[in-house]
Amino acid sequence: MMTRSDIKAALAAGHAAAMAVDGGQNADYIPFLASVPSDLLGIAVVTASGETHTMGDAGYGFAIESISKVFTLALVLERIGAEAVREKIGADPTGLPFNSVMALELHNGKPLSPLVNAGAIASASLAPGDSADASWDAILDMQSRFAGRPIQLSATVNKSEQETNFHNRAIAWLLYSAGSCFCDPVKAVDVYTRQCSTLVTAEDLAVMGATLAAGGVNPRTGEQVIKPEHTAPILAEMMMEGLYTASGDWAYTVGLPAKSGVGGGIMAVVPGVMGIAAFSPPLDTAGNSVRGQAAVAAVAKSLGYNLFTNPLQA
Ligand code: DON
Repeated sequence: MMTRSDIKAALAAGHAAAMAVDGGQNADYIPFLASVPSDLLGIAVVTASGETHTMGDAGYGFAIESISKVFTLALVLERIGAEAVREKIGADPTGLPFNSVMALELHNGKPLSPLVNAGAIASASLAPGDSADASWDAILDMQSRFAGRPIQLSATVNKSEQETNFHNRAIAWLLYSAGSCFCDPVKAVDVYTRQCSTLVTAEDLAVMGATLAAGGVNPRTGEQVIKPEHTAPILAEMMMEGLYTASGDWAYTVGLPAKSGVGGGIMAVVPGVMGIAAFSPPLDTAGNSVRGQAAVAAVAKSLGYNLFTNPLQA
């Protein structure tokens, strides 16, 4: 039985593990992200029954970035179903960086995963709503229902991204030319850019992870946010591509579905049990938080959670 003091000890282990690693750099291709203090470190655990534990800067609001891809995927699963998502976008790792154009070229314009930029822009193009504002409302509402509180756009982050997102605009047009962007590509990339520009805390990410852990029920609000059958495909996508080119290393060493963002956030899920999240801005070359990965890995290890271990022998 996992007790409150087990979780407290796990958070302390996570903090110590994070502080023991150095290096990495804030993302700087989005100017705002370069300005966030690099020494912030927040860790949070929220259980499937809503018990919350936090440590350090777990209340600091930072840009959600790629972690938003998970919730837009959830919205699109609800709209068109798991089979259509797999057919239109895919469920395989690309083996290439998150914004790779070559990955698209190699696969006839099919993104393969909704968790790389191309696949996330394709997901955004499948969100409900005829106008950019209507699709954006649906996406923001989904992020808020997962977090159990109203999530907000940061106008500063959004401006910084919209003024520099030329590579993503190119990806959107390539998708469109291949038949893999399902609305006006200008709308798709606008909505995608906004979804990356909301502010969340490590505690929010842990609630969002706990909602996935609890079969789509937010443990704070009690709301069934998505159909229970849609959590498994989301977690599968996270396991395959959640940490981009490091997803295999993460599965091998930690064994939990997780999703990172270039804002420094990382959210992991122990199905049926809890969400584990961390925030620290400096990233490794794959685009994942150096300390965030160390923290989440140590929390999971301390509590004995790895999906690939035999629970009967644990
Ligand atoms: O589209 C981008 O490049 C950013 N808005 C998000 C990328 C991201 O977070 C990749 N994650 N590690």
